[in-house]
Amino acid sequence: MTITYRAMIPLDVPVVAAMEKVIFKDDPWSISQFKEEISNNGITRHYLVACDSNHKIVGWAGAMCAQEGADTDVLTVAVDPDFRLQGIARHMVTALINWAYSKKSPTIFLEVEKNNLPAQALYISEGFAVISMRPDYYGPGIDALVMSKVLE
Ligand SMILES: CC(C)(COP(=O)(O)OP(=O)(O)OC[C@H]1O[C@@H](n2cnc3c(N)ncnc32)[C@H](O)[C@@H]1OP(=O)(O)O)[C@@H](O)C(=O)NCCC(=O)NCCS
Repeated sequence: MTITYRAMIPLDVPVVAAMEKVIFKDDPWSISQFKEEISNNGITRHYLVACDSNHKIVGWAGAMCAQEGADTDVLTVAVDPDFRLQGIARHMVTALINWAYSKKSPTIFLEVEKNNLPAQALYISEGFAVISMRPDYYGPGIDALVMSKVLE
């Protein structure tokens, strides 16, 4: 199936927020959070969606960079369970890395749950390395790994 990628727009937000509730059950972002984030799309944010051949959203990803020359943070990456293991997340992460290069970010950072081995495998294969751990970052007993990739 052909997957296409484009910038996330306000019309996408209700669909993305509904999928977010399923994928990130414990702490989903709300419609207003997504709207606030994408109000800065193309400026300090880069949010994209992946769509199938019927224009259905099957994934999204976003990153922030406060200004040119500042570090970039990956804020979210998610793919519909029915569309996983097809390279969709890799495509979106590569797009975020390229955006960080365009912003002249020295380093791109992200947090990932310590037990989330699929996501860690993706990030490691894209050149990220673990630099530290944040205990209880996602709640009691749920630690985060901080990963980064140097872009210079
Ligand atoms: C993590 C996630 C985004 C991966 O999406 P995806 O589109 O299936 O990933 P891709 O097909 O692009 O896979 C890229 C690489 O990631 C790794 N990977 C992805 N899923 C994996 C799995 N279930 N087990 C092991 N490695 C996996 C592999 O290295 C894969 O490369 P390969 O196919 O060449 O082996 C997806 O599983 C997801 O949405 N999970 C829930 C939300 C989440 O955890 N987001 C990340 C928060 S930090």
